[in-house]
Amino acid sequence: MEEKEEPGRLHFVGKKDELIKAKRSFRTLEGRDVLIIYHQGVFYAMDCYCYHAGGTLENGDIEEINGKLCIICPKHKYKITLAEGEGLYRGRNPQEKPPVFRWYSKGIKQRVHTVTEQNGEIFVKLVMIPNKVDSDYYQGEKGKVERAKA
Ligand code: FES
Repeated sequence: MEEKEEPGRLHFVGKKDELIKAKRSFRTLEGRDVLIIYHQGVFYAMDCYCYHAGGTLENGDIEEINGKLCIICPKHKYKITLAEGEGLYRGRNPQEKPPVFRWYSKGIKQRVHTVTEQNGEIFVKLVMIPNKVDSDYYQGEKGKVERAKA
């Protein structure tokens, strides 16, 4: 059965010029910690804690990998696409002769949210489809405890 997107609430997260200046902004929306990123003229929003082990993405570098902009988690260098929240990894297929390193996708691992602009103000809508994404764990109570221990 196809999942239907619920009409979510738009959260005002700041004035456009302030968020551009800040480049990275942290907001808690409906109890969820979200990172808003401004990069090369585009706003992105994603869960603030990395799906791998809860590292905070706030200071992650951004690089283009395989044609997609990715944030690199500062903790163990996992690569996450900004637009989709896809986990990328480099690997090679031993069946290939000779095996060549390529980028592969692990699928959507980090929840990304929708950013819109209205009259110079920026709004984020939490996107909860699909209903389970790995980064959800570090938004919950158990994940928060683990993050604090790390
Ligand atoms: Fe992000 Fe491990 S916590 S790569």
